[in-house]
Amino acid sequence: MNYMLKDENAIYYECGYSCDNALYIRLGLEAYFITDSRYTIDADENVMDAEVVIDGDLYGRAQKILKKNKIKKIVFDPKEWSVSGFEKVSQNVKITFKPELDFSHKKRIIKSDEELKIVAKAAKLGAKAFKHLAKEFRTNGFGKDEYTLTHVAKGILGDFGKYTLSFDPIVAINHNAAKPHATPTATKLEKNDLLLVDAGLKYKRYCSDRTRTVQADNYFMFDTHQKYKRKKIQKAYDTVLKAHDNAIAKARSGMKAKKVDALTRDIVEKAGYGEYYVHSTGHGVGLDIHEMPYISKKSNTIIEDGMVYTIEPGIYIPNEFGIRIEDMVAMIDGKAVVL
Ligand code: GLY
Ligand code: MN
Repeated sequence: MNYMLKDENAIYYECGYSCDNALYIRLGLEAYFITDSRYTIDADENVMDAEVVIDGDLYGRAQKILKKNKIKKIVFDPKEWSVSGFEKVSQNVKITFKPELDFSHKKRIIKSDEELKIVAKAAKLGAKAFKHLAKEFRTNGFGKDEYTLTHVAKGILGDFGKYTLSFDPIVAINHNAAKPHATPTATKLEKNDLLLVDAGLKYKRYCSDRTRTVQADNYFMFDTHQKYKRKKIQKAYDTVLKAHDNAIAKARSGMKAKKVDALTRDIVEKAGYGEYYVHSTGHGVGLDIHEMPYISKKSNTIIEDGMVYTIEPGIYIPNEFGIRIEDMVAMIDGKAVVL
């Protein structure tokens, strides 16, 4: 098969190395990793099963390689390519360029045993970091605003430089948590506030992803058993937890992803919060933080063993509060195992 890749994680998946300026071309049994001279040493040391080509003009060099080879068709994912980059590569090349959306994500939807081990370790490190973070917030967090708390969360999640993060952590207090992807504000953490933290780190380039919503009292931990002083919050929280636990208990290989989505959504809707559950149940996690399978109302993807995805139902009451509980699961022997 012939294909060309631009995305950093898509390239890493093929040859075990990647950087922020590279192209990868596979032509049957031959493969080329093209990058510029800043990355020569790392590429020579780490690229597997591909010829390393150093050239400041990546697209021009790719075009020359394609022109020289007598192939008829090459697959690419239009989501990965800029218009100008694609035009340069395909200029005067008499090959059919076949667009295939999510080409690499489709290849990566089932994780190998090795990948499962790595992603499980990422999840474990993420869970451990949440424990440290709870202690830090309990001891030094009260009176600090979301900007500072987010900064602290970044340090602890990354173990102060040891790991990069899956995304910028979300640290949201009370009404700000009603925005599923809240950005930090000057709101300060006070005793018994509702506190939502959504964060993850990367281990060997694979992401973790986790969300907890707690009542920030003197003893809080980022576990799922939470007691809130406000009854309205407790009722919504218990509903989200029930939805989360139900999907984890009942998800099975062979189900459509939309059925897994219904395992959370039906519970939230029956409790009367349907309009406040504004996103899908979850998403695949791997080299990218968001990948296949998408656990949404519309997804006909069949869930299979080896898939890794999040279960993260939520209820968001505008201007009041938001709740989300998120864990990563792997499908093993037909069932969802929490990582
Ligand atoms: N945890 C962030 C997200 O899934 O969008
Ligand atoms: Mn997530």
